[in-house]
Amino acid sequence: MTDQPDLRSQLEEARRQGIDDFDKADSPQSLYEARTRYLGKKGKVKGILRGLGRLSKEERPLIGQCANEVADALEEAYQKRQNELKSAQDAQKLEQDDIDLSLPGTWTRRGAVHPLIRTQLEIEDFFHSMGYDIGEGPEIETEYHNFEALNIPPDHPARDMQDTFFMKSGHVLRTHTSPVQVRYMESHQPPLRMIAPGRVYRCDSDVTHSPMFSQIEGLVVDENISFRDLRGTLEQMIHYIFSPDIGARFRPSFFPFTEPSAEVDIECFACRGADPQCRICKGTGWLEVLGCGMVNPAVFEAVGYDSKKYTGFAFGLGIERFAMLKYQINDIRLFFDNDIRFLKQFV
Ligand code: DAH
Repeated sequence: MTDQPDLRSQLEEARRQGIDDFDKADSPQSLYEARTRYLGKKGKVKGILRGLGRLSKEERPLIGQCANEVADALEEAYQKRQNELKSAQDAQKLEQDDIDLSLPGTWTRRGAVHPLIRTQLEIEDFFHSMGYDIGEGPEIETEYHNFEALNIPPDHPARDMQDTFFMKSGHVLRTHTSPVQVRYMESHQPPLRMIAPGRVYRCDSDVTHSPMFSQIEGLVVDENISFRDLRGTLEQMIHYIFSPDIGARFRPSFFPFTEPSAEVDIECFACRGADPQCRICKGTGWLEVLGCGMVNPAVFEAVGYDSKKYTGFAFGLGIERFAMLKYQINDIRLFFDNDIRFLKQFV
């Protein structure tokens, strides 16, 4: 009976001292050492419990329970101090570092692809999947590439039709992407398949015309290319861009660089020809989307291709026109104003 209060007070003393030592520890290392001194296998608590053997059967569980409580209290004090040291360490680190990785980030609003670029990318995707290359040419172009080589001689009325911007240097701002056909053929040999997206310029401005707009030119040259290849390709493209069930018709037309030439109309997707008052197709049931044709042998001759051996087809489409039809936009200037309220609708 005499030993019991003794062990109990030894345990209480160990608790007090331990908590005191833990609080004094000023580094994780010294805290851990202090913990070992009290709670380790050879630590104070275990040491005191070695006296348990001298106690009576009744006393042992009482002291055992007291030892558990002391060990729990010490463990708790240890954890608490460990957290304190960790926070202090973090705070110190933050002070030294410029970057606080724990701060919430700054949000950037997610942008969206401009409707014109989006339309361009869709058309490019289609032709990319068919193995077409991308051709490029300058926006400041020679009259030769923009006109002559495309079978548009100096006195040809098509020069007036195109509302050309002439430059003092004798160059022009290209009025269409067709000169890229010429440049591409000058630097490549058939067989070839290419499209050339790019900006073009014409002195013209209203709700459907902008002095700067975008076209995609297409050119395929090989032996035995026929109008059926042209027709199949463009029909597939129209189905891909607009809708698989939209009809297309090829209407005879004229371009100096193609013979025969055609303009392609698609069925009005708003009324499908059913509404004589339709604002989109003006009651005709059809919407013109592009020009095309079989490459004129005169163009092959200008680039030195054998026009007896090779045939080809070409087409040119306005990206704004495609986008306006696809997204039912009624004013071309909306593409260039960059009004965020307009652009937001294409997120
Ligand atoms: N270059 C013509 C224009 O801007 C469009 C065009 C028509 C391009 C027929 C072609 C074509 O390649 O074959 O109006």
